[in-house]
Amino acid sequence: MIEIAGLKKSFFGTPVLQGVDLAVADSERLVIIGGSGCGKSVLLRHIAGLLKPDTGSLRIDGRDLVPLPERDLNPIRQGIGVLFQGSALFDSLDVFHNVAFSLLEHRTASPKEIRERVAQVLDVVGMTGQEGKKPAELSGGMRKRIGLARAIISRPRIMLYDEPTTGLDPQMADSINRLILKMSDSFHVTSIVVTHDMTSAYMVGERIAMLHRGKILVSGAPREIQESSDPIVRNFIRGVSEERDGGDGGEGAKKTL
Ligand SMILES: Nc1ncnc2c1ncn2[C@@H]1O[C@H](COP(=O)(O)OP(=O)(O)OP(=O)(O)O)[C@@H](O)[C@H]1O
Ligand SMILES: [Mg+2]
Repeated sequence: MIEIAGLKKSFFGTPVLQGVDLAVADSERLVIIGGSGCGKSVLLRHIAGLLKPDTGSLRIDGRDLVPLPERDLNPIRQGIGVLFQGSALFDSLDVFHNVAFSLLEHRTASPKEIRERVAQVLDVVGMTGQEGKKPAELSGGMRKRIGLARAIISRPRIMLYDEPTTGLDPQMADSINRLILKMSDSFHVTSIVVTHDMTSAYMVGERIAMLHRGKILVSGAPREIQESSDPIVRNFIRGVSEERDGGDGGEGAKKTL
């Protein structure tokens, strides 16, 4: 369903993506791991149609997004839900207006239908009746849930999650992981999850791919990644599981007491 080939992107002469090749099957759950700053969010933004690569192709259902003009990208973007790193809610808007944002913007639904759909997605994420709250009144985990409700309200076929569990306590992280699984099982969405959190990676990933030096270094079933003999993969996995924020690949992670 999603086929990425030879994707390259530089910012001000600094290469970030250096030839990414990656295919994601219909309704698959793929996890992307990799050190801080290696380009995971940049890759997700390309898949969401929010960034254009310098070269390469990015096909969704066989159609290459790269040459498409802005107006042709908009309908494609609507089929892709994104839970952004940090949730990216509008602080001045209440939960209702945050969640309903895309429906209000596109004016495709009646006010009654919008109210019903907001209530529905809030129910899915376990936030029933919270329409009137402002983001500042919510915990980090609740904000993620609202971000998720906002992403799923347009009934996307593809969901992109950027660090969905980072900064959450283990229980809250667990409930977000369950929501990712629920989205996948109940609505058959194709899921791409970027994370540093290996517990989450093993829980939600049917396949795990590691981005390293601008390319996909390995991709395989969670067990294959866990048992990989590649020193870069081994160091990364050990680094993050012993020290949660050691996202630089493990070698530079120091234990602090
Ligand atoms: N719009 C932009 N303009 C210039 N440089 C950018 C832009 N977006 C990202 N970068 C650079 O690209 C590199 C990769 O960034 P990216 O956010 O994708 O990393 P990441 O793997 O998601 O890291 P983290 O795990 O910390 O979220 C970084 O060096 C970043 O500074
Ligand atoms: Mg990122």
